[in-house]
Amino acid sequence: MPYKDLRAFLSSLRQSGELVDVTRPIALQYDVAKALAKSSAADGPALLFEQNGTEFSLVAGLYGNRRRALIAFEATDATIHERVTAAIDNPIGPVDINGPAPCQEVIVTGDDIDLTRLPVPTYSPRDGGPYITAGIVVSEDPDTGIPDIGNYRFQLHDSKVLGVFSAPNHRFGKNMAKAIERKVPLHGAIVIGVDPMIAFSCQVQGGDATNDWFVAGGLRGEPVELVQAVTSTLKVPAHAEFIIEFMVDSDDQRVEGPLGEYTGYYTPASLKPTAKVTAITHRKDAIFQGLLTGKPITENHVLKQIPFEASILRQLQAQFPTISDLSITSSGGVQVYVVIAMTSRYEGEARQAILAAMASNLHPKWVVVVDPDIDIRNSSEVEWAKSFRVKPREDVFVVDRTAAAPLDPYTDGGYSSSVGIDATKPFGVDFPEVSEVPGWRSFDLPEIIRSK
Ligand SMILES: Cc1cc2nc3c(=O)[nH]c(=O)nc-3n(C[C@H](O)[C@H](O)[C@H](O)COP(=O)(O)O)c2cc1C
Repeated sequence: MPYKDLRAFLSSLRQSGELVDVTRPIALQYDVAKALAKSSAADGPALLFEQNGTEFSLVAGLYGNRRRALIAFEATDATIHERVTAAIDNPIGPVDINGPAPCQEVIVTGDDIDLTRLPVPTYSPRDGGPYITAGIVVSEDPDTGIPDIGNYRFQLHDSKVLGVFSAPNHRFGKNMAKAIERKVPLHGAIVIGVDPMIAFSCQVQGGDATNDWFVAGGLRGEPVELVQAVTSTLKVPAHAEFIIEFMVDSDDQRVEGPLGEYTGYYTPASLKPTAKVTAITHRKDAIFQGLLTGKPITENHVLKQIPFEASILRQLQAQFPTISDLSITSSGGVQVYVVIAMTSRYEGEARQAILAAMASNLHPKWVVVVDPDIDIRNSSEVEWAKSFRVKPREDVFVVDRTAAAPLDPYTDGGYSSSVGIDATKPFGVDFPEVSEVPGWRSFDLPEIIRSK
């Protein structure tokens, strides 16, 4: 049975000791972030701040480590990729909710809209202001009407206006660009506080024709229940805690940023479009959500890693079925450093796979291919392959002027370059045998158990 909503997931975290209440008053400005950073450094729990100076509770750090991600998926490290790829292969369409939607128990429109009533933290003194960082945007392609859901940050400019940022290669950014070009309005909705499978489905890479509600249904094993928003025809998850409905205003550009980002660096401030809020709807005792992004590993990275790895693996396997596994490393922000394990079927295939990975929507800077005997989640093993299965002149190449990964602080504008490393053994050529003491695995040595 999937988690019905955020609350069901919170109960499960609480039972596992992965969610703790902070009962004393805590300031939204900086102190929430300090608490999250401290808990994360101690590999501690997610935190629920009740006394945050607003009428709503704030939960944060939900996906702060892989343990909690696995609780969300109800999976283990051994089953997780299979769990996600099976869901991608078996999408389930959404249904309209039968009866009133919990997310619309309270409807606030017009002059009553006031974003400052929400517990939106300011994470760092360098940030441009308070940021909604755990919001999931629902938007539609203006041509096809296909809905997309994805995580996007929003800066609070004032009580009714938010600053918007989407990378141009992300679907919300593409939808905004199309709407501007077609001179049509773009409605959106920020969804806050949902069951974890909706949250993780945002990061599944499926291409622009994917209806993400089907992906979320596949991950849940049951349809997502949707309801129509109150100021647009968009459909939003009925069991969410909050929905902030908005219209993008690209004529009213305001300074957005800085914000500490997934790369580990602050993104500089710049003029960006705004989102004019048209309604806030929520549950009666709604719980807001915070999320700290920054130098890996943060919630941002944990949210991306499982869905990115499973879905990019699926994409590449369609062309290269002998790819056995793929890792998108946390230290590379779960974006720019990809390691692939594969057995080449013909000369040059590893290089083809590298080029295909470079062309994925990750925009990676480094793609390494190794043989399947290398543990791709162990960086020493990968370095061993790079050390002794590579002739640098032949096996390392640079593709110039590739599109940069979003928010990479060290690029030539939107351009970067990508390094491919074929660290597989040469195809069809005898290669020295790996020296290992034969039979050690089954050797009986009880003394080492006693020494532990
Ligand atoms: C917590 C979090 C915050 C994010 N914020 C942004 C953002 O502000 N802008 C952006 O372009 N991508 C952001 N991303 C990345 C996109 O949500 C993500 O890569 C997603 O797959 C969007 O791509 P798609 O809708 O094109 O599939 C964020 C990811 C996470 C996990």
